[in-house]
Parts: sequence; C-alpha cells; structure tokens
Amino acid sequence: MIDVQHVSKHYGPIHALDDISFQIREGTCFGLVGPNGAGKSTLMKILSGILLNFDGDIGVKDWKVSKDRTKIKQQIGYIPQEICLEETLTARDNLILFGNMYGLKGKALHVRMDEVLDQIGLQDRAKDKVMTFSGGMKRRLNIGCALLHKPGIVIMDEPTVGIDPQSRNSIFSVIHQLKAEGSTIIYSSHYMEEVEQLCDSIGLIDKGQLMEFGRMEELLDKHGKPSLFIAGDGIGEAMLQEFGEAEPKGNGYLLNSDEPLFTLEKLVVHCREHQLEPRRLELYQPRLEDIFFNLTGTQLRDA
Ligand SMILES: Nc1ncnc2c1ncn2[C@@H]1O[C@H](COP(=O)(O)OP(=O)(O)OP(=O)(O)O)[C@@H](O)[C@H]1O
Ligand SMILES: [Mg+2]
Repeated sequence: MIDVQHVSKHYGPIHALDDISFQIREGTCFGLVGPNGAGKSTLMKILSGILLNFDGDIGVKDWKVSKDRTKIKQQIGYIPQEICLEETLTARDNLILFGNMYGLKGKALHVRMDEVLDQIGLQDRAKDKVMTFSGGMKRRLNIGCALLHKPGIVIMDEPTVGIDPQSRNSIFSVIHQLKAEGSTIIYSSHYMEEVEQLCDSIGLIDKGQLMEFGRMEELLDKHGKPSLFIAGDGIGEAMLQEFGEAEPKGNGYLLNSDEPLFTLEKLVVHCREHQLEPRRLELYQPRLEDIFFNLTGTQLRDA
C-alpha cells in the first residue's frame, strides 16, 4: 500500500500541491490525470523520493518517505517526464551506468540488461549511440534504465507524450507485463483514453488539488449518467429542446435526459414523423474527459 498523507508543496508563492491524500493498493495501476501545471510531476517526484522539501508524508509498505528514503528508493523505478540519458553513449552503456547506480555489477547486470533490452524491444539497437535514436526509442530506453533493479513500484511521468505508435504500443506492453508480474504502477498522463485503458484507479488533479479519486468504474458511475448523442441533417438545438437539454458535441449534440432510453424512443418517433434521418443516434456513456470537464469546467487537453 502507498499511503499519501496530506501532501502539500509550494515553490515560493506557487502552491503546486495542496493537501493531497489518497492510497494506492499494491499490484494495481494508478493513473494521475490533470492538465499542464496541475502538479502531476511534483507529486511523482515526491513519491519517488527525489523531491524532499514538502509537507505531509508518504507511507510505502511499513516505511515513511520522511525517514526511510533510501529503503523506499530501492523499491522504486522512476521514469521522469524529461528524458534523462547520456546521448554520446550506447544504449548498453547507459544501462550499465544506471545499473551501477543501483549497485548492479558483473554477470548479474549483463543478464538483467539482456532481459530489459528484450522487454523494451531494443536488443538490436543496444550497441548504437543514443543520439541516433528516435524520441520513442529514447523513452523506451529510459524506462529500461529504471527497471534494471526490478523495482516493485514503477512511476512513469507522461511516458507517451510525442512518441510514435510503435513505441507507444511497446510501452503499453511493458506496463501490461509489469502488471502481470504484480508491480504497482503510477502513471501520469493527460491522455484520458490511455488512463481508461490501463489504470485500475485514478486521481484527477487540477491546480494542485485532488478533485476526485477512486476506482475507474466508481468514478464513471458517480459522475456520469448516460445521455444521448444525435447528429445529422436537420438536427439542431431548437428541434431537440422538447426532449431535454442539448449541448453541441463534435458534429452533433449531446442530449441530457433522466430517462435516456425513453427519450431515445421518443426521438425515433419524432424523426420518423418528420422524415429526419440522423446519421447517428445512440446512447452516450460518459468518459473520464466528461467527468473532468464537469468537475473543473475546463477541457483537459486544451487547459
Ligand atoms: N522547480 C520549480 N520551481 C518553481 N515552480 C515550479 C517548479 N516545478 C514546478 N513548478 C510549478 O508548480 C506547478 C506544478 O508543476 P508540475 O510540473 O508539477 O505540473 P504537471 O502537472 O506535471 O504539468 P505538465 O503536464 O505540464 O507536466 C506549476 O505551476 C509549475 O510552474
Ligand atoms: Mg509534468
């Protein structure tokens, strides 16, 4: 169990984190979601024991970050938001550098390096200098460096920003593998679909405050009731008025209704009577993105 207890952090006048508390169960994947400047990286640096000056405390197993930092750091693999590699060295030499930092040496290190290179799909580029790698390959290598000491807790800060689909898939498969091995994963992102796909529980963070926390299904049940989505020629706000509150979404409208199925039935009859042929008419299940918007009034991506 990771127990975040009343964590606050300010950089001078900036309150980056404001009294954050939540728990992460061992062996689960936790997603930290929020817009730019929300405080995700600050929280991840505190969780990984590299940012020390903060209020509150964090419990990991029977330890506290405030007292047992060295023991906790050995349990953690931290992949920072900014890639941290030695560009002039090969992938292999970078792994050796990181391995040595974790006290790995000799045969044990080389065996582990091969396992990690397979895991991140870079075995065939192991002898190439990092400066010849794509952004996605560098990201994968950075992940590999953090996995060498087989940490039980892996913290990844926005690992998929600006990378190619192949590297993205490779990173997802590493995460699935880590999950299957029972690792605890803490994953930050502002891509909601990724978090929905990967994470068991999530924290929504905005302006340093934890707006919501819980299991994915709990949050979707709590904040989002199904509504209707309708799009097509002749479908407009005026026409939808009598069926409920309509708001534009994409190329159509989202129609909020307390009884979506009943409204769907009425809409079908109405469209038939007025010879309207909607391109789309369907039940719309709210997504994480909608929950974030409802809670903060801002879109996650453009915030
Ligand atoms: N070293 C620092 N000195 C001063 N202010 C900082 C420092 N690091 C972060 N901040 C501020 O703290 C707030 C939270 O920043 P943080 O990097 O934790 O956000 P984030 O959610 O990771 O954002 P992003 O999605 O852009 O990575 C921001 O207002 C940021 O400007
Ligand atoms: Mg960040």
